[in-house]
Amino acid sequence: MKVLGVIGSARKLGNCEVLVKEALLQAQTEGAEIRALRLSDFHLLPCKGCLACVLKDEPCRLDDDMHPLWEQFQWADAIILSAPTYFLGPGGIIKLLIDRLFEYSLQIGQMQPRPGAIIATAGLPEWDPFTLPMLSMLAGILRIHPVDRFVAYRPGPGEVLLDEDTMKRTKQIGTTLVRELQHPSGEKQLAASENACLQCGTPFFMLRDNNQVECQLCQARGEIQQEGERVTITWTAKGGKNRWSPEAMAEHFSEWVLRTGPVYQKKRDEIQKRFPKYREIPIVLGPRKTK
Ligand SMILES: Cc1cc2nc3c(=O)[nH]c(=O)nc-3n(C[C@H](O)[C@H](O)[C@H](O)COP(=O)(O)O)c2cc1C
Repeated sequence: MKVLGVIGSARKLGNCEVLVKEALLQAQTEGAEIRALRLSDFHLLPCKGCLACVLKDEPCRLDDDMHPLWEQFQWADAIILSAPTYFLGPGGIIKLLIDRLFEYSLQIGQMQPRPGAIIATAGLPEWDPFTLPMLSMLAGILRIHPVDRFVAYRPGPGEVLLDEDTMKRTKQIGTTLVRELQHPSGEKQLAASENACLQCGTPFFMLRDNNQVECQLCQARGEIQQEGERVTITWTAKGGKNRWSPEAMAEHFSEWVLRTGPVYQKKRDEIQKRFPKYREIPIVLGPRKTK
């Protein structure tokens, strides 16, 4: 039973680190082998969009720490994800990581789902709309089914230590994860805030015909109901799917991504003929690029 804690904040002994380690310590007490890593200790470069990883099945050409990080993910039977809220969403390294996981998409589709947890930190409610959804996306891509998912609202580093309820809830994650690893009960729907998607907890949805709504993150479908002034959504409507299911991911890759390569090849000469005037404008280089 190996439990990995992923600290998405560079702040040492900040709230993410304290919470992840609280859950890990409890998992260890319950018999798990534990590891913690801080994402910012891994040098990750932004994806360049060359698509060689998917279209040519080649290892990523970027020379950074993505592969050692991926190996840590592979080590784990359960993964706790965390991130601080920076400007309404998770710190940028979370999106950087999500983009770089493209390289492993085909492998991920064949991996067994793993239990885990999603812990976000933020300063204050209503200033964090994108943090849990983005962490849910990361969990979905990594095939992690969370046993719990919440935001801890505390601005100062480690201030969450004084919040007894949150510390208790976090400790429980350690216990639940070990129980789940000992006696797998599979994916469960977690309580979501009112009208947020029942499948992934995201409050963003698109209005569809026939009073339907579609979750913009996972593509579950719900139906709007109104009783007097009260509007609710029932998340069981037909036609919904789970974007992160192996079937949906495989379909996306085989039906769309892989087909874009040959389609592009046919248009390539024509596109290149139109490049010259764009090449003429020089690019301002940052100091590290000019060294
Ligand atoms: C650059 C920066 C931007 C922030 N932006 C937000 C924000 O938009 N919303 C919010 O609720 N908190 C915001 N915060 C507060 C952090 O989310 C909060 O301090 C959190 O507990 C940090 O977690 P950590 O200690 O694990 O790093 C911001 C903090 C920093 C440093």
